[in-house]
Amino acid sequence: MKKVAIMTSGGDAPGMNACLRAAVRGAVYHGVEIYGIYRGYDGMIEGDIVKMDSHSVSNIIQKGGTILKSARSEEFKTKEGRKKAYNELQKLGIEGLITIGGDGTFTGAKIFYDEYGIPTVGAPGTIDNDLFGTDYTIGFDTAVNTALGAIDKIRDTADSHNRLFFIEVMGRDSGYIAIRSGIGGGAELVMVPETSTSIKEVISTLQEGWARHKTSSIVVVAEGDEEGNAMEIAEKVKKQISQKDIKVSILGHIQRGGSPSAQDRILASRLGLGALEGLMKGEKNVMAGIINDKLVYTSFEDSITKNKPLNQELIHMVKVLSV
Ligand code: F6P
Repeated sequence: MKKVAIMTSGGDAPGMNACLRAAVRGAVYHGVEIYGIYRGYDGMIEGDIVKMDSHSVSNIIQKGGTILKSARSEEFKTKEGRKKAYNELQKLGIEGLITIGGDGTFTGAKIFYDEYGIPTVGAPGTIDNDLFGTDYTIGFDTAVNTALGAIDKIRDTADSHNRLFFIEVMGRDSGYIAIRSGIGGGAELVMVPETSTSIKEVISTLQEGWARHKTSSIVVVAEGDEEGNAMEIAEKVKKQISQKDIKVSILGHIQRGGSPSAQDRILASRLGLGALEGLMKGEKNVMAGIINDKLVYTSFEDSITKNKPLNQELIHMVKVLSV
């Protein structure tokens, strides 16, 4: 394999740049030509593709976001869009692809591989940590630390005013950020899409805490919780305990930015190089991941369809540690 292309796609994640850098430097080291595709699949369709070298990725390991930019492409979901994308890659003689992104990115990559057979290896880049086939995804650790920093600050003011806060963190379908930042921030309760916690249970847990003379209370809510988002949950709780001063804080996209943590830079570097070297060794239609500190490849199919369950021990721990 002598010519490959690389892109970042879907929601950005801190560490995507470090991943890109590792793949590009790996390609240079192995004498493979590498092209960067701007704006994910949209850029592939439009031929927004440039040749990269070692200098193209200088001084980016510490930067959040993605220098290649990212997009959630609607056009790539169509047959015509994918045909255009294939033609653009053909013009440059691209023989392999590296896609850095999450489940949407890999769903697209799988369909594209099935239709055109260009060998593709993915690197899991999403703050959600919701991909099967890797213990952690690129950006997750940084996002948890960002959320934790915010929770600590909210705890200060919650404590001063004896308030109850509902803090919403990201995670459309997954509670990974919520559970980790909740444990780290000493939350009284964590609400995640993977387990159901009724409003009745929320109220009784909080009231038990107040009976034990707890002053401030923090409930961390994953945005995809089945009871609704933090605002909706707070409204439901307010209706039943009107005497308590209740506030809501939505952390939002601050969780997606910022300089990647040491853990994310190293993970991203391993996965970027792992994706490139995997491609060179003949891996295709797979995602590179790290499980138990070992580099592994999992089919796109499994990475997007298989469930990566939340650790039940962590869910139990929230209950025990908030007494
Ligand atoms: O998939 C990552 C993620 O940050 C989710 O946690 C969140 O629901 C979604 O992306 C938000 O996407 P967008 O930035 O496109 O609104």
